[in-house]
Amino acid sequence: MRVFSGIQPSGKIHIGNYLGSLMQWVSFQEKNECIFSVVDLHSLTVPYNPSLLEEKIFEKVIAYLAAGINPKKSIIFIQSQVKEHAELNWLLSVVTPVSELKRMTQYKEKAKKYPKNINAGLLNYPILMAADILLYDTDVVPVGEDQAQHLEMTRLIARNFNKRFGNVFKIPKAFIPKTGEKIMSLTEPTKKMSKSDKNPKSYITLFDSPEEIKKKIMSAQTDSGLKIEYNPKLKPGISNLLTIYSLFSETPINRLEKKFEGKNYKFFKENLADLLIEKLAIFREEKKKFKKDGGSLKRILDEGRKKAQVIAFKKMKKIKKSMGLTI
Ligand code: AMP
Ligand code: TRP
Repeated sequence: MRVFSGIQPSGKIHIGNYLGSLMQWVSFQEKNECIFSVVDLHSLTVPYNPSLLEEKIFEKVIAYLAAGINPKKSIIFIQSQVKEHAELNWLLSVVTPVSELKRMTQYKEKAKKYPKNINAGLLNYPILMAADILLYDTDVVPVGEDQAQHLEMTRLIARNFNKRFGNVFKIPKAFIPKTGEKIMSLTEPTKKMSKSDKNPKSYITLFDSPEEIKKKIMSAQTDSGLKIEYNPKLKPGISNLLTIYSLFSETPINRLEKKFEGKNYKFFKENLADLLIEKLAIFREEKKKFKKDGGSLKRILDEGRKKAQVIAFKKMKKIKKSMGLTI
């Protein structure tokens, strides 16, 4: 199977991105042909600082590598370096209903958040995402739950195109993990953990120092009560921490409830902080390593770009031909 996914370079990459998305990528890598992109063009749709963008892009690539994506097995590349993504975005826009774009939850949320910057790119965001996926004849797209609606949109765009121009695109499927699909904020556990949250205490980034991890976990909001039990409705805070603990330690939640029976929240949180400090060490180490040797990161990306380009170029020819364009 062909697998494609991407993460935007905006903001800090956090444990929600890792548990909801990156971790699944690694498991797909063993038996499938995988393509993972840093989708920088998408991140231009909200306000950002151009002088910091490149560093953020490289940080995401380091996160992919540290998480276990092997550039010998999988293609890792930067979206804007393969021009076919932007080109296909335009071609797909002619089979995309504006009314559907306006319905998208992410569009509505971002339009509300940045009322002074409701640009056409923000509305067209799902078309570019469809281009990313369809360009590579993707079968499966591993993403967190918040992207389910965009995946449905990709399928709609592909079906619309196929109806009009012939059977050109494969209809991809989303893969959304059953646990970890939505990691919640540490400070407001009824909201999802988000890169763009103004309060850095609400998330743990993959590159946080041990001190930061400890501080953030110890101050994470928990609920009144004493018992360490999983009950997202009544105890969203402790349930979220249990989910995080369970995924990082690969231990089922009911076993954790037994393990921490009779223990207080403080004891549980200290344990969780230690676990995260240990599991995230690889991210801090790899970042240090690549800081010293930026050349090897560039080589990995060069190779990825070349491989992605070969596939994209070939597919683009077929697409243009089907639409009657001269190639
Ligand atoms: P983004 O941060 O929007 O670039 O998302 C990158 C990937 O991480 C996507 O697959 C999202 O669905 C996933 N993701 C983002 N936030 C969370 C979260 N709080 N819990 C689980 N998955 C998430
Ligand atoms: N929209 C996705 C997000 O915010 C990022 C993304 C862009 C993506 N293109 C993609 C994810 C293609 C999967 C496949 O998380």
